[in-house]
Amino acid sequence: MADICVNVDHVATVRQARRTIMPDPLEAALLAEKAGAVGITIHLREDRRHIQDADVYRIKRGIATKLNLEMAASPEIIGVALAVKPFQVTLVPERRRELTTEGGLDVKRARAKLAGVIEKFHAKKILVSLFIDPEEDQSRASMDVGADAVEFNTGAYSEAKTKRAIQSEIRRLVKACALTEKMRLVTHAGHGLTVTNVGPVAVIPNVEELNIGHSIVSRSIMIGMEQAVREMIEAARKARG
Ligand code: PXP
Repeated sequence: MADICVNVDHVATVRQARRTIMPDPLEAALLAEKAGAVGITIHLREDRRHIQDADVYRIKRGIATKLNLEMAASPEIIGVALAVKPFQVTLVPERRRELTTEGGLDVKRARAKLAGVIEKFHAKKILVSLFIDPEEDQSRASMDVGADAVEFNTGAYSEAKTKRAIQSEIRRLVKACALTEKMRLVTHAGHGLTVTNVGPVAVIPNVEELNIGHSIVSRSIMIGMEQAVREMIEAARKARG
């Protein structure tokens, strides 16, 4: 069964709405570990809309499992990553105006650049995963540039609406995973996965890890709301004596 790595970016999104100290993504990461997550994923975006540089250092120091740092291959962020030395970086394409990562990297087009970046990380013993769409040529290019792993983008699968479209996206993922298995390329997957749609991806035999964020953070708000309100009512009641 695929292991779960929890992306805590959106805990920081809520914190940044007030530029304050809560909720703390490290605290969320520790709870995720307690629940069985094998790793913590964070995305240090160039616009710093959620995770901040200080979070990356704190989370690296504070967690007991492995840190997977998602990032664009830009010089500034590469500098932070080389200083922090996470267990793994996952290189993703990044556009300023996007709501979240849209689509996979075009490894075929950026071969030379990515090969150079991967070398830099390998020199510091940091593993490199490339976030790609489940396409044969992108997997082959990832292997060629020296990636340790690929993360297949499950965005199209999670957004598919009809039964037919969903089946077609699952077939696409299964086919892509069969190739990476043959190439002995470590395979992860993620984006848009929920408790409802995770099953068909989690059962693909060589998918080792799933990176899941938004649906877990969303659900945790709903599970925690009742308790949080009870605690506030109790605090107000106690003050009245
Ligand atoms: N994998 C990658 C490369 C991502 O960019 C993201 C979103 O930050 C995820 C996985 C997690 O996606 P979601 O938040 O939709 O679960």
